[in-house]
Amino acid sequence: MADARPFHWEFTPDPVTREVFRIEGGVPLRGEVPISGSKNAALKMLAAATLTGERCRFTNVPEIEDVRVMAETLRDLGVVVDHPEQNVYEVASGDVEWLFVPLEAAAKMRASFMLLGPLLSRFGRVIISNPGGDRIGRRPVDLHVESMRTLGATIEYRNGYYFATAPGRLRGTEVRFPFVSVMGTENAMLAATLADGHTVIRPSAQEPEVDDLIEFLRKMGADVERTYPDTIEVQGKRRLRGADHHVIPDRIEAGTFAIAGAVTGGRVTLTGAPCEHMTAFLEVLDRTGVDAQCDADRITVDGSALRDGGFRAVDIATAPYPGLATDIQPPTCVLLTQARGVSHVHEAIFEDRLEWLTELNAMGARIDIPDNHHAAIHGQTPLRGTEAEIGDLRAGASLILAALAADGESTIHGAHHVKRGYENIERKFADLGARIARLEEGTTSTTS
Ligand code: UD1
Repeated sequence: MADARPFHWEFTPDPVTREVFRIEGGVPLRGEVPISGSKNAALKMLAAATLTGERCRFTNVPEIEDVRVMAETLRDLGVVVDHPEQNVYEVASGDVEWLFVPLEAAAKMRASFMLLGPLLSRFGRVIISNPGGDRIGRRPVDLHVESMRTLGATIEYRNGYYFATAPGRLRGTEVRFPFVSVMGTENAMLAATLADGHTVIRPSAQEPEVDDLIEFLRKMGADVERTYPDTIEVQGKRRLRGADHHVIPDRIEAGTFAIAGAVTGGRVTLTGAPCEHMTAFLEVLDRTGVDAQCDADRITVDGSALRDGGFRAVDIATAPYPGLATDIQPPTCVLLTQARGVSHVHEAIFEDRLEWLTELNAMGARIDIPDNHHAAIHGQTPLRGTEAEIGDLRAGASLILAALAADGESTIHGAHHVKRGYENIERKFADLGARIARLEEGTTSTTS
């Protein structure tokens, strides 16, 4: 095993190509849109593939920037990552050369921290940068780090890097989290698959993406089971093998397109949509009066109630799964601007995930934001096209939704945030009839 690379003291981020979305709103969207594979499942599987030296093959991987960053990060470690065709990735981690995840990777994507558990467990050491990710408030990794310590690792934090070692194997034990963390659960679970002995993780996250990861790990030969809804148990193995896996569909992308159909007063069918993972969201649609019909893996959303007097105001609160996903809260706020009455929003997971609502107010919405976790949306308000700046992934998708619903033209800056998590979003919207284009800053053409 080669020594870890010396780490960089100075970091200059890659220059991002400045692109904008140019949108002419007011067109009811109609037609079918295919739902891509789940970002939050695919990223963890790519990381989990480093638990074995054998080849792993993933299908239905979304073609998004975060996946590209994870693939590049793995290649920098010496992992062979092939991308033989669209939506297919193959990962072979036989010759990992560098047990070092640099700031360059971590600053681009928080999920780079998912390499802590598998690399530490398989190789006994790793140096990994404190992650960045979306600007949606303080997002610490203390739960991840503490869980590794509980499993027997020694971890020091110096100059922005975690230096983690576990001579011999990690030891199976009880990992108790003070509250539910999705990636915290996943990191502990990945580490435990190669630990010596039995690990119990609770409370563990119940998100469908965690269960998809469990299914993949079992194909690798791991002994992992969700024994109670909030408990995952792992019997460590000495080795895992390569496996193939088809990633589940992205419930957040599906929710985003469902709202697009509703707020434009159109009719959109989502194909390959994970109805069974979207219960809390579909309940919100139902309460607002948006008609959504699930049929196997298709959801048809009819927003004609918009023209027949608007939707109904509802109160929503985000929660860990099976509650309403925090990632679908920003798009849902756009829907609630088109509902009659006052809707109260409680964002319970992240701080600062309501800040972008000021951009929505600039488009004509009437939203009070008394504190970091609460908003009151006074509807129904017509939205008008504007110039806005995207601050993070989900706010970005939501600004696109608002622009699609608005009268007139919008220019939405910071398209790169959206490319992190949505495959070909402008093409998918254009295929539904939207007048949308992604252009380099300064370009004037509005063709899609
Ligand atoms: C994951 C998802 C993200 C989603 C979030 C909540 C991925 C790649 N990202 O993020 O899209 O919005 O779940 O569903 O899967 N926390 C700590 N210490 C920690 C870890 C988390 O205090 O060590 C806090 C967070 O700040 C947050 C809460 O725990 O307030 C829940 O966050 P968590 O479930 O860990 O989110 P992620 O796994 O980062």
